[in-house]
Amino acid sequence: MPSVVIVGTQWGDEGKGKIVDALAARADVVVRFQGGDNAGHTVYSGDKKYVFHILPSGILRPGVMCVIGGGVVVNLSKLVGELKAIQVPETQWRRCLRISGEAHLILPCHIAMDQAAEARRGASRIGTTLRGIGPAYADRAARIGVRMADTLNAGWFRTQVRACLDAKRGCLSKSQVREVCDVDRVVKEMLALARPFAGVIADTGQLLAEARRKRKKILFEGAQGTMLDVDEGTYPYVTSSHTIAGGVCVGAGVGPHDIDRIIGVAKAYTTRVGAGPFPSELKDTTGATLRRIGGEYGATTGRPRRCGWLDLVQLRRAVRLNSLDEIVLTKLDVLDGFDRIGVGVAYRVGGRRVTEWPANPADIRKVKPEWEYLPGWKCSTAGIRTFAKLPPAVRHYIKTLEKRLNVPITMISAGKDRSQLIIRKPVF
Ligand code: IMP
Repeated sequence: MPSVVIVGTQWGDEGKGKIVDALAARADVVVRFQGGDNAGHTVYSGDKKYVFHILPSGILRPGVMCVIGGGVVVNLSKLVGELKAIQVPETQWRRCLRISGEAHLILPCHIAMDQAAEARRGASRIGTTLRGIGPAYADRAARIGVRMADTLNAGWFRTQVRACLDAKRGCLSKSQVREVCDVDRVVKEMLALARPFAGVIADTGQLLAEARRKRKKILFEGAQGTMLDVDEGTYPYVTSSHTIAGGVCVGAGVGPHDIDRIIGVAKAYTTRVGAGPFPSELKDTTGATLRRIGGEYGATTGRPRRCGWLDLVQLRRAVRLNSLDEIVLTKLDVLDGFDRIGVGVAYRVGGRRVTEWPANPADIRKVKPEWEYLPGWKCSTAGIRTFAKLPPAVRHYIKTLEKRLNVPITMISAGKDRSQLIIRKPVF
């Protein structure tokens, strides 16, 4: 049975939540392996909208085991709030949710540090989600982080929290230190929040090995996107985890041979939220139209997303970095009304034409995309369920992308609902 990875190929917000939710219907296990509540995975079921920030998107499917891996940073109060909001009974989530003991906690001091760092950066701020993600991962690397398993022993937990908070005192203002570095208060609050999860903390790497041995269908759900990877993305305008498929192994505790299929999710145009390079950004009315029709406002922060046409130079990089076997194209219906559809096929930089992402970060800021325009189709694609029934101009658009990217597009999402999905090659 396959273990399948789903990753974002752009700057996040590609519509991964809907795809994971659709696939979770046939999966046995859904795993988050990186990120934290900076993610916002939106799932529509009937007329109900759910946004998952920390829970795996399979949580709505009874019988699916949902795993939060060791590579995730967990804000316990957000996790509690999310479980309440989706109204899954406690007896159900106790049965189907497992959290790695290795997952690091986001403490109030991490959120304060994130806010302080962004304020210090001023005009050159990253535009983080202010959820404490970067500082929590920084503490992990500095070996002063606090982990889920630490909550199982109050004395040990206190030692770890103290070490973590002591390191923050010089970095925050006096009032912030009073607010977020009080060891007694933080220990008390965190242990109270962690108590209901004591029975779900597990060695999730072992659990996944066992699931694979039993030939279970496992789905690894990436958060953010390739271009936000801490190493391979548009550094320093990135998140602090490994968002690419390689992140699955370290973030979920599985070996490279335990992955069978890697699927990249690409929106039919490009968006980015927060600062940083975005070669195919359109700052004109076309960009504003994409934002309006696509409802491009952050699921986590509500910020308007920057919009532009598809960028094949960037996508080819994503294909290579993730070893993509196939692509799922989302939000196709957003393009329905356009006379022509732009596609960035190369970049111009300093009078040169380049077809690869520039190695020099200074060049990424200067590149200008070379556009090719494909004919629009000017009709609704939202209700269409088979590839053959798509208008010829859509099929031409999709085949052009497949040829240029050298990867098959095996699923097409046109519309918000679970059912609005064309499946050309079933996953499970
Ligand atoms: P952080 O992950 O909160 O540290 O934010 C770092 C960068 O990643 C910022 O540009 C955020 O806007 C971006 N980011 C983080 N999570 C997401 C996401 O789920 N979708 C899109 N962008 C994200």
